[in-house]
Amino acid sequence: MQEQKRTHFAGELRAAHAGQSCVLFGWVHRRRDLGNLIFLDLRDRSGIVQVVFNKERQPEAHAAAEQLRSEYVVAVEGEIALRARPNPELPSGEIEIIAHRVTLLNTAATPPFVVEDDTTATEETRLRYRYLDLRRPRLARNLELRHRVVFEIRRTLHELGFYEVETPMLTRSTPEGARDYLVPSRIHRGQFYALPQSPQLFKQILMIAGFERYFQIARCFRDEDFRADRQAEFTQLDLEMSFVRSDDIFAVIERVVERACAVADVAIRTPFRRMKYTEAVRRYGTDKPDLRFGLELHDVSAPFAAAREKLKIAGSVYALVAPGAAGWSRRQLDELNEHARSAGARGAYTVKVTDQGAQSTLERLLGADGVRALVAATGARPGDLIVAVAAEHEKKGLDAAAWAAGQVRQWLGEKLNLLDRGRWEFCWLTDFPLFEWSETEQRWVSAQHPFTGIVEEDLDKLEDPARHGEIRSLGYDLVLNGVELGSGSIRIHRQEVQQRVFRALGLTDEQARQRFGFFLEALRYGTPPHGGIALGLDRFVMLLAGEKSIRDVIAFPKTAAAQDLMAEAPAAATAAQLRELGFTAAQLAAWGWTDVRELRAAGYRDDELRAAGLLR
Ligand code: AMO
Repeated sequence: MQEQKRTHFAGELRAAHAGQSCVLFGWVHRRRDLGNLIFLDLRDRSGIVQVVFNKERQPEAHAAAEQLRSEYVVAVEGEIALRARPNPELPSGEIEIIAHRVTLLNTAATPPFVVEDDTTATEETRLRYRYLDLRRPRLARNLELRHRVVFEIRRTLHELGFYEVETPMLTRSTPEGARDYLVPSRIHRGQFYALPQSPQLFKQILMIAGFERYFQIARCFRDEDFRADRQAEFTQLDLEMSFVRSDDIFAVIERVVERACAVADVAIRTPFRRMKYTEAVRRYGTDKPDLRFGLELHDVSAPFAAAREKLKIAGSVYALVAPGAAGWSRRQLDELNEHARSAGARGAYTVKVTDQGAQSTLERLLGADGVRALVAATGARPGDLIVAVAAEHEKKGLDAAAWAAGQVRQWLGEKLNLLDRGRWEFCWLTDFPLFEWSETEQRWVSAQHPFTGIVEEDLDKLEDPARHGEIRSLGYDLVLNGVELGSGSIRIHRQEVQQRVFRALGLTDEQARQRFGFFLEALRYGTPPHGGIALGLDRFVMLLAGEKSIRDVIAFPKTAAAQDLMAEAPAAATAAQLRELGFTAAQLAAWGWTDVRELRAAGYRDDELRAAGLLR
């Protein structure tokens, strides 16, 4: 190790430091050799500073600098001097370092991509060499922001009287609607731990245990299909409180979110808006409304009434008024129609409103009066394009046309640049239905999870399947700019009610006991009324950092196929490991293990190999 001691961080140097000597450590970000002068951008975790090597004044240092290459690790000793021509692009751009000495601490292999913010490397390469990717200032900044946000969350919750408690990673299945990651037990052959989809049951049990205010920065695991805002392994800010109503939980979250936003220099207003689920679906066609723009849905079922059969549509019809889009080309309208179809609509029916009146192929079906009624119902003005969205089939418990229109609305919002990117529109969504109809399973399933509390007056409907769609829950979501940031509820705290919910979900008492016996048992021992919430921490930091993917705020994320390209996980286990876990030779053979010698070396006996058909 070098003898020198660091005096400053590169990115923190300013004009006020001019005249001081310094020792800096870091990486060679970039090097420009102009013959007598070598310019080197030195990068450490705080940022970048320019270092100058002058051949005439410091020939030795200059000669050493000639040998440096990208990503070499160096110590630089020199003097901080004001620059003749400051670089406004760089925070340290007012000064540069006149180098006296440079010590090579380590060389580096040529990186597979340049460590720059706008890299052309594919995401695959970046993930494979994540340690180089993380040297890019943008990612480094994101992780630093994440650290400060988490630190502020912990500080705030500590001040509010919460305890951070760790819950197990090796546990039983907790249903949050995804598949479990299973871990085979070595000691208990044929038995499995599940990695937690969330700490849900444990945090409720902590309330039963009397902790009253719990939180955790909790890792969760879900084996599901991944998108830009989903990972197999992700982090929640998870919390739970006893003796509270939803208002109390909202107030805590608003405080935490406000302080965390301040850390990112984002000023927000609290309390957040609130909206009932039915209102959100009616006005925005979604339970995650992006409130940065208007473009609300208009119910135009009436003008369409006569043409329903001809158009082969079912349910309500909703219209959006796209401002200034009357001049859209055929191609743009086709794109719109395509989008509406992929959103599950029958299609998008359009009316161009101009100074000369309304033009639409719909006139044949709705008549001139019908089109006029459509214009009147939407309040469209000349220059606007009316986009009507209808569904082909009605869906149980769901206004399919509204949901399709909601997706078209979001698409139009982006297309027409209606979104004000500087706005932070938080909203609490409340009054969700308890159950939703699953088309694939052909039964009612929990809209959130089966521990969600129920509006007292609706309890009776639990025993009447015909009315399951009407039951209102005590659940809520926190939505930010159209992204579901968090979800929670006041819970069921009476064991008898919990049992009735399991029955309503089609579980026999025996099945419920098998899966949740320990929890049902715990509920019997003085469970306080309680409730809580979990925020997606990755999503929150993603929005604060202005990123589009949560992968850019996670140090070591997985690909869409749930792989860690750097560590190369998942990976095959050895035959010896699998044998220890109780896997039979036949099971290994089914996975392609046919090398008898290898299996023998792993401890499989010849009779086992014979039973597996690997030996005669
Ligand atoms: P839920 O399943 O809605 O609720 O999760 C809470 C929040 O976690 C985030 N989230 C994810 N983020 C990244 N990748 C994923 N795969 C992923 N899945 C969810 C979302 C979501 O809003 N136990 C309940 C909470 C409660 O009732 O207290 C739960 O886990 O931002």
